[in-house]
Amino acid sequence: MAYANENIALVAGGAGFIGSHLTDALLARGWRVLGLDNFITGRYENLRHLEREPRFDLIEADVTDPPPARLTRSGCRLSYVFNLACAASPPHYQANPEHTLMTSVVGTHHLLALAQAHAARFLLASTSEVYGDPQVHPQQESYWGHVNPTGPRACYDEGKRAAETLTFDYFRAKRGDARVARIFNTYGPRMRADDGRVVSNAITQALSGDDITIYGSGDQTRSFCYVDDLVEGLIRLMLHEGDYRGAINLGNPAELKVKELAEQVVRLTGTHSAISYRPLPVDDPRRRRPDISIARKVLGWTPQVPLPVGLKRTIAHFAEVAAREAAQLPLTKRRTRREKSGAPAGELRGPAAG
Ligand SMILES: NC(=O)c1ccc[n+]([C@@H]2O[C@H](COP(=O)([O-])OP(=O)(O)OC[C@H]3O[C@@H](n4cnc5c(N)ncnc54)[C@H](O)[C@@H]3O)[C@@H](O)[C@H]2O)c1
Repeated sequence: MAYANENIALVAGGAGFIGSHLTDALLARGWRVLGLDNFITGRYENLRHLEREPRFDLIEADVTDPPPARLTRSGCRLSYVFNLACAASPPHYQANPEHTLMTSVVGTHHLLALAQAHAARFLLASTSEVYGDPQVHPQQESYWGHVNPTGPRACYDEGKRAAETLTFDYFRAKRGDARVARIFNTYGPRMRADDGRVVSNAITQALSGDDITIYGSGDQTRSFCYVDDLVEGLIRLMLHEGDYRGAINLGNPAELKVKELAEQVVRLTGTHSAISYRPLPVDDPRRRRPDISIARKVLGWTPQVPLPVGLKRTIAHFAEVAAREAAQLPLTKRRTRREKSGAPAGELRGPAAG
């Protein structure tokens, strides 16, 4: 695949978990990248290694506001707009549900207009949550979903559904070229320890010797995609030159029970943590597995990183962060991650995000 050097990408949500890995991958391909983020869940730490990178710049802004003048003045020319801006984990997106909904709807509206003004190609990071608690398994792109429009997850799920609608209307109106990725659970280094996702929960609890919390019986299933695989899929989708313009599932179809994931983490960390069970939160999907036939056929994409390999890399990352944090604190101030988050046990630890 050829990548021209003059490509300039805007990555909205660039300081987040996936956005920062996408930024690294685009820079590695010789592109210039502008990150845009309001740091609601993103962290400067995720981009600190790019401080001296001349092909990278970061703009602090909220996508619910009109794009900053820097992006609209005549000297600025974008070739690609990736819209990843949106908190992705339930405790974070439910903390301010109205802002979450507006981020997907108003933010996507603004970024589509920006893409049109630059004649730039647009990609929306949508989610498997558009399928809700699915009645069809595995989930194919043709499935319209089973979403509760009034529940606590609706600000995220319905926001993404509306963002998809805006994107397809933009494309149908011939305002510009646009693509939609439906991302399934993704994991890897730079996930936040406090984000309430099943992988980060299990790893942080295992590393600190706490019980590993499972919500429900643990028989609910998820499929986990390593972040490098996902980023490769996003780039392939953005660069795809064929005719296919429907939404595309990107995720790893290897499905396992949440309790099996916890058991793998226990094995790989060598922890003595026990597994403890809590009630399942409202509207938590019972089964999740992407059908990625279209991604395979249209993009030639298939995940490459097996779960134990990705988990080992993620565990190493969390262990390194924990060691760094511990080394920076005087002994008397060392506290557990849970204490640092200010939350009672389990409060920040909801179910897997979409
Ligand atoms: N991680 C997953 O498993 C997963 C699954 C499905 C979809 N997605 C989607 O992928 C994208 C990235 O997810 P992530 O896991 O990296 O989450 P993340 O929370 O780490 O990243 C989201 C980024 O967007 C920024 N942001 C949020 N609202 C914003 C706003 N109004 N204006 C500007 N910036 C804003 C945050 O500060 C953060 O840096 C999201 O759109 C999410 O919905 C992720």
